[in-house]
Amino acid sequence: MTTHPVLSVPGIAYGGDYNPEQWPEEVWAQDMRLMRDAGVNFVSVGIFSWALLEPSEGVYDFSRMDRILDLLHENGIAADLATPTAAPPAWFYRAHPEALPVDKEGRRLSYGSRQTLCPSSPAYHEAALRITGALAERYADNPAVAMWHIHNEYGCHNNSCYCDTSAAAFRDWLRARYADDLSALNDAWGTTFWGQWYYDWDEILPPRASGAGPNPSHLLDWRRFSSDELLSLYRAERDVVRKATPATPVTTNFMAITDALDYWRWAPELDVVANDHYTMSTDPEPEIEIALSSDLMRSLAGGPWFLMEHSTGALNWHTVNRPKRPGELRRNALAHVAHGADGIAYFQWRASKAGAEQWHSAMVPHAGTDSQIWRDVVRLGADLRALAEVRGSTGTAEVAITWDWNARWALEFPAQPNSELRYVDLVRSWYDPLWRAGVAVDFVRPDADLSPYRLVLVPGLYLVDDEGAANLAGFTERGGTLVVGFHSGAVDQNCHVRLGGYPGAFREVLGVSSDEYFPLQPGETVGLSEGGRGSLWSERLRLAGAEAVTEYADGLLAGIPAVTRKAYGEGTAWYLATHPDPATLTSLITTVYTEAGVETVRMAPEGVEAVRRRSPSADYLFLIDHSGLGAEVTVAEDAVELLTGKATPGSVTLAPGEVAVVREPRHG
Ligand code: GLA
Repeated sequence: MTTHPVLSVPGIAYGGDYNPEQWPEEVWAQDMRLMRDAGVNFVSVGIFSWALLEPSEGVYDFSRMDRILDLLHENGIAADLATPTAAPPAWFYRAHPEALPVDKEGRRLSYGSRQTLCPSSPAYHEAALRITGALAERYADNPAVAMWHIHNEYGCHNNSCYCDTSAAAFRDWLRARYADDLSALNDAWGTTFWGQWYYDWDEILPPRASGAGPNPSHLLDWRRFSSDELLSLYRAERDVVRKATPATPVTTNFMAITDALDYWRWAPELDVVANDHYTMSTDPEPEIEIALSSDLMRSLAGGPWFLMEHSTGALNWHTVNRPKRPGELRRNALAHVAHGADGIAYFQWRASKAGAEQWHSAMVPHAGTDSQIWRDVVRLGADLRALAEVRGSTGTAEVAITWDWNARWALEFPAQPNSELRYVDLVRSWYDPLWRAGVAVDFVRPDADLSPYRLVLVPGLYLVDDEGAANLAGFTERGGTLVVGFHSGAVDQNCHVRLGGYPGAFREVLGVSSDEYFPLQPGETVGLSEGGRGSLWSERLRLAGAEAVTEYADGLLAGIPAVTRKAYGEGTAWYLATHPDPATLTSLITTVYTEAGVETVRMAPEGVEAVRRRSPSADYLFLIDHSGLGAEVTVAEDAVELLTGKATPGSVTLAPGEVAVVREPRHG
C-alpha cells in the first residue's frame, strides 16, 4: 500500500496522461518545454498504445516508446509506464472473436472502442501477459520508469461478461467459495425458492436475462466473482512487471466511488492507491463529493494516495459539460491534496483533436497556452512545489463511516421494500453535515479496527456479516458512539433476511425491533415530533431497551419512535428509522458528534472547507473557500502559509475563492 517508498519523484508529483503518439514528433519538443514551464514531473504513458507497440502478434515496435521515455528522462520527468491491455488491437479480436464480451441479453459486443473484453478469456489473458512481459523486459532498467500503471480503470464500461467461458470461470470461483459442496451453494442461494435447486455445477449460469426477477444471492456472488475476476487479471500483470522490476511500485487507477469493484479487496494488492475522479456537471456542490471520494481513497490506502486523473475543465461524457468556475481547478486539485493525495495528475496532457474524447478538456487546451486553463495549470504547478513538505502526512479523523461494496450491491438489487434507495446518496447525506462542519472522516469496513474512532456512522449497511455486526457492537460496548441508519443489518452475507424483527443484526445493540417496514413513496414525507420531516422510510418500531428521541408525528405510524438512543456498555447507540430532511439530519448528527466529544478541524465560516493533514512535526491546515466570500481564520501564532511562504501569526486571511495551506508546528 502507500506506505511503500512510493515514487522517486520529489514532493507532490504533478502531471497527467501523456499520449504523444497522437501528435507528430515536432510537438513532443514543445511538450517538454511546456511541461517544464508548468512544473510537470510525472506522466503516464502508453495506456492505449497496444496496437502501436505490437503491430501483429508477437511482433513489437518499441521505437516510439523508446524515444518518448528518453525524452522524458532527459527532461527530468518520471514515467508511469502503462500496460496497454485496456485496448486490445483489432488484429487480436479478429483472431479471437471469442474474447469479446457477451452482455446479459446474450449480445456479443464488437471491438472499435476500448475496454471491451471478456475477463475470463484465455486468449485475452495470454495476449495481455505477452505484451506486459515484452514491456517489462524492454524497460526493466529504463531510468525514466518510476511506476507501473497496470491496465486502465478495471471495470470501466464493462465489468462482467456473460458468455459460456465466463460461466465456466464463475463455476470454478463458486466451487472454491463453497469448497466443492453444491448443497452449501444451494443453501447460500436459497434455491428452494422458485425451484432453483441445482443438482450439477454445470447447471449454474451467470445471472443472464430471464423471464422474471433474479435471485439476490446469485447476483451477489456474481458481483463478487466479477470483481475478483478482474482482480486476478490485475495480479497476473502486476506479477509479471514485479518479477522484472521488483523495486518499481505498481498501481492501477481506481474509479472513485464506483460500484464496479470491491476496492477493499483490491487496495492491498497495489503499492500505491491511485484514483481517477471527475466531478458531475449536475452536482451543485461537487466539492463535497471530492472530499468524500478522497477520504475513501485515503482510507483504502491507509495513508497518502495518488490522484491519477481528474479534469482541468469540461468533460465530454455528461449531457451538457460545464467548464470549471474561476479558481475551481485550483480548489479541486488542492482539495484532493488536503484529503491525502501526494500526486496530482490529469486526463490528459494535450487535448486531442480526433477520437472519442476530442471534446474533453486537458492541461494544454485546443486553444494552446493563451488560455485560462493553461495559466491555471502553471499556477497549480507552483502551488504543488510549495507544498512539497506536506507529502507523506496523514489524516486525523475521529469519525468513521462504514463503506461496504457488498452492502451497496445488495441494497440496489431489484425487488427491495424501497427500490429508490441509493447507497451513495445515503452515505453522502450523512457525510454532508460533517463536511460542512469541518469534521474529519475516514471510511471503514464494518469489521475494521475501530479503536481510533469516537463515533462510527452506519448509513445504508443493508448487508452485514456476523463479524461486522459484532465488531460494531463491541466498539459501542467499549465506549464508542454508534449511529445506524434504517434498513441496515437486514440481511446476512448471503443476502438472507435476519429473522425475528428488524434491523436484524443491530437489534440488540440498538435496543429496538420492528415487525413491519412502511417505506415512503417518492415525494411522500412523514412529520417528526421534534421538528422536520422524514422521507424514503418509516417502520413500526418497538422499543426494547432504547428511548425514543423523536417519533413519527403523523400518518399511519404517528406516535411510533422514529429516532432512538440507547446506552450500550460504555457507549451509546442511535437508530434513525427514517431519512430526515437535511436540516434535521444536520442537527441530529451535530448533537451526536458533539456528545461523542469529536472536535472539528477548525472553526471556519460557512462555505470554507477546513481539512488537516498531520506529520510528526507539523499540522497542515488546508482552508478552501467555496463560498466566494473569503474569510479570516484563526491559526497558531507560529503558523506559516505555505503557498505564499508568509508567516501568518494568529490568523490567516483567505481571499474569495482562494486556498491557504497553513503549517502549524506541533509542540511536544
Ligand atoms: C477515464 C479514463 C480516461 C479518460 C477519462 C475521461 O478516467 O481513464 O482514459 O477516458 O475517463 O474523463
